[in-house]
Amino acid sequence: MNDKLESQTALSIAFCLSVLSKNRPYAQMLSSDQVIFAEKALALCSPFKYRLSTRAKRIWFINRAVESLQRFSIPGLALHWVVRKAAIREKLKGLLASGEYQQFLLLAGGFDSIAYEIAKMFPEVECIEVDHPATQNKKIACLRQLPIVTNHQSLPFDFNKGPLTDLLIKNDKFCGSKNTLMLAEGLFMYLEEPVVYQYLELLKGFCSHHSTFLFTYLEKVDGQGVRFQNQTGLVNFWLSLQAEPFIWAKAQSQLRLDLKDKGFEIEAILGSGGLMHLAASDTVGLLNKINQMEIAEGERLAVIHYRPQSALD
Ligand SMILES: C[S@@+](CC[C@H](N)C(=O)[O-])C[C@H]1O[C@@H](n2cnc3c(N)ncnc32)[C@H](O)[C@@H]1O
Repeated sequence: MNDKLESQTALSIAFCLSVLSKNRPYAQMLSSDQVIFAEKALALCSPFKYRLSTRAKRIWFINRAVESLQRFSIPGLALHWVVRKAAIREKLKGLLASGEYQQFLLLAGGFDSIAYEIAKMFPEVECIEVDHPATQNKKIACLRQLPIVTNHQSLPFDFNKGPLTDLLIKNDKFCGSKNTLMLAEGLFMYLEEPVVYQYLELLKGFCSHHSTFLFTYLEKVDGQGVRFQNQTGLVNFWLSLQAEPFIWAKAQSQLRLDLKDKGFEIEAILGSGGLMHLAASDTVGLLNKINQMEIAEGERLAVIHYRPQSALD
């Protein structure tokens, strides 16, 4: 990560969401807060991209440019991002509606609004999001322009600089004896395996209660590097220029074994079909429509639970 500049991958997602919010069927899967956050981040970090994206409705060539960018990078990436986000939002809402969780911890939210949205939707749930300082300080500046939500806080931290435990222990809102829901979306591909596993086990160290972790990861396919299945050579070049190279991918069979070894119960590991179903099955005709579109393959969503013996007794 570049210590001085906000994450360019997070900013690219914000740009894409802002452009796509003017187009069906993508717009049907985006929330209004997501679009507001994306546009505030663009206005703050890149006024040029902000102007481009907010004029997308009238300037057809911006839509074309997004299509071309995908063709030269990862075909179907825009749909994958939107579907991934909508699927995660649906899953989180379902889990939180059960009333079982009292806190939500988001690792690397980038410029996404999910933690803020959850804090508004579930005032009894304490929401904490943590991201790299270069990105999080920009996000905090965006949040200052929005109504304060008292059960939401945003903290800067570099995951390569330690396990986050100290920061959480010192935080008077975070409590080890509460059921916790945790999300790491689009993060683990940028970290080394020992760091990924350290974060998977983060809550085991000091949470005495049930925790559920949703995370996405890149699926390792035999004979291929760390990549989306259909990505072109330009992607790794661009990511390296941004100091955000893909580092970690894992074969699903090995990941399942590792998670079981660490005492996790695996609820699901979803590929694009499962994500589309979660994201779109509640809206008439939407699933059919997106099923016919090209979607990038290679990133999966895992939903795992940890129930310490003390919580079962
Ligand atoms: C591809 S973006 C995903 C952002 C967001 N989750 C989303 O899906 O829109 C990757 C995120 O990982 C964060 N990240 C990468 N390496 C990190 C590190 N070492 N410490 C903290 N955050 C990191 C970046 O700051 C960025 O927000």
